[in-house]
Amino acid sequence: MTAETDTNRNIQTPSVRADKVYLVGFMAAGKSSLAHALGERLKWRVEDMDGRIEAREHMTITEIFRRRGEPYFRTVERAVLAEVLPLQHTVVATGGGTFADANNQALINRNGVSIWLDVPLTQIISRLPSDKHRPLASNREQLERLYTLRQSAYSHAHLRLDGSGATVGELVERAADWLDG
Ligand code: S3P
Repeated sequence: MTAETDTNRNIQTPSVRADKVYLVGFMAAGKSSLAHALGERLKWRVEDMDGRIEAREHMTITEIFRRRGEPYFRTVERAVLAEVLPLQHTVVATGGGTFADANNQALINRNGVSIWLDVPLTQIISRLPSDKHRPLASNREQLERLYTLRQSAYSHAHLRLDGSGATVGELVERAADWLDG
């Protein structure tokens, strides 16, 4: 995999394994949609970490936060990340907080390639009002703080895709071109 000339390239990591892609980025950035489209394009399986967490706990994310609290959610999130580490030829849609954890981030960047789907906060906000399933999005001030805080974590992804104004199809092609080298 070579991507030295790709202007979307975030940082240089020539030794990453290209048989696993992790999509990282803020909530409502469109990670799940992109994961499905990219999985189809690459003919790889698709895993959604939030979906796995809900299946494992038999509760929605909102219920897990309400009944067990965020620290418990983060513990399950780490366990689910451990489950997907051995999978190959897989596109993983992470949760918005997964890559913000330094240990998770190191694991992900050693285990595969990480792609940051970077979407402006205004675009995120415009998508969120109709979405009542994200506990951390219920308070606007908290949302803005989280967004700012997490940008620096996401910047450690191997590739940054500028999601502002791009269609899912365009993003898939950019990611696939980069992966093909
Ligand atoms: C979270 C994002 C959510 C979900 C949980 C926590 C976060 O995933 O994992 O509500 O900390 O940003 P999405 O990014 O799919 O919304």
